[in-house]
Amino acid sequence: MDPGELFAWSRVLIVAGKGGVGKTATSAALALAAAQTGRIVLLVEVAGRFDATPMFGVDPQAYDPQGYDEQSIYHAPGGGEIRRRSITPDAALTDWLESHGFNRLIRRMAKSGILEIVATATPGIKDLLVLGKIKHLETSGAADVIVVDTPAAGHALHFLKAPLAVRQAVRSGVLRQQATETLEMLGDEQRCQALLVTIAEETPISELIETAFAVEDEVGLALGPVIVNGVLPNIAGLSETKLNGKTTASAALHPQQVNDLSTATKFRQERTILQNQQLNFLAQRLPLPRVYLPALFTSSIGLTELQTLADAFQQSIRQQASQ
Ligand SMILES: Nc1ncnc2c1ncn2[C@@H]1O[C@H](COP(=O)(O)OP(=O)(O)OP(=O)(O)O)[C@@H](O)[C@H]1O
Ligand SMILES: [Mg+2]
Repeated sequence: MDPGELFAWSRVLIVAGKGGVGKTATSAALALAAAQTGRIVLLVEVAGRFDATPMFGVDPQAYDPQGYDEQSIYHAPGGGEIRRRSITPDAALTDWLESHGFNRLIRRMAKSGILEIVATATPGIKDLLVLGKIKHLETSGAADVIVVDTPAAGHALHFLKAPLAVRQAVRSGVLRQQATETLEMLGDEQRCQALLVTIAEETPISELIETAFAVEDEVGLALGPVIVNGVLPNIAGLSETKLNGKTTASAALHPQQVNDLSTATKFRQERTILQNQQLNFLAQRLPLPRVYLPALFTSSIGLTELQTLADAFQQSIRQQASQ
């Protein structure tokens, strides 16, 4: 698959995975890759967090403390653009009331806690409001691609199942209609797909496999390629024997340095073996294409690092296509 094809295929890309595996970094890199194909990208953060925006060197709260309004954060040379926004249930409810002609008084009630009362009575309603807003953005053509950075996997599943929960609880009316329309979007692979992110370690991979089946079976959401983040690159010729005094480079090293390098080499070799075992396990258990993003040796992710990840994403997808 060509990366452009992925972005043309579904307008909404929902990025999900276990906590800390790199969902936000992946979402931001995907957004960058899509913008660099000339597309207008909307990067949506749903957990009330503003983690992706600083990766583009932009302070989200300087623009709008709630983050609900769209903010342009990146312009690609070819005309593509990334806009970001945060969608919270409260803001989505206010928005919904407004667009349905309710007056200011009702908006004030929404702000003063009516959502909590309704949410207690109807499980899933808060997440439905957020997903409903995403569906609205999708149908109104707000962007060519909408990348959604979700909360951690367990919560993501809850989040994605919310329309089902509401449809079961509510027999008629606008809420049921909202749930039905949102489910329609989630179930249509030409409108929406999920990209699951993991790192090459046992627990996140097991969780990813479980989430993948649940997302497909219970929500009917199509799955795009699995993104394996933080992959250690293979170092050609990495072996301990080279460090044991035989090479010209090591001749200049202090014995302690040779010892330290030897320990580091051993650690890296073991990690690589474990990583490859996990990648094989994933390939056997989940028949989905895989995209590999490298581990970056950096303390924080900025635009340079995002570009490295976006390039790796494009390259990995092209390699899949040529296989
Ligand atoms: N490929 C990578 N190489 C190096 N560091 C990375 C990479 N991807 C992510 N990180 C770092 O790992 C940490 C977690 O990444 P990120 O915030 O994207 O994960 P997340 O899955 O969104 O986390 P959360 O579940 O808390 O939302 C961050 O400090 C980020 O800078
Ligand atoms: Mg995150």
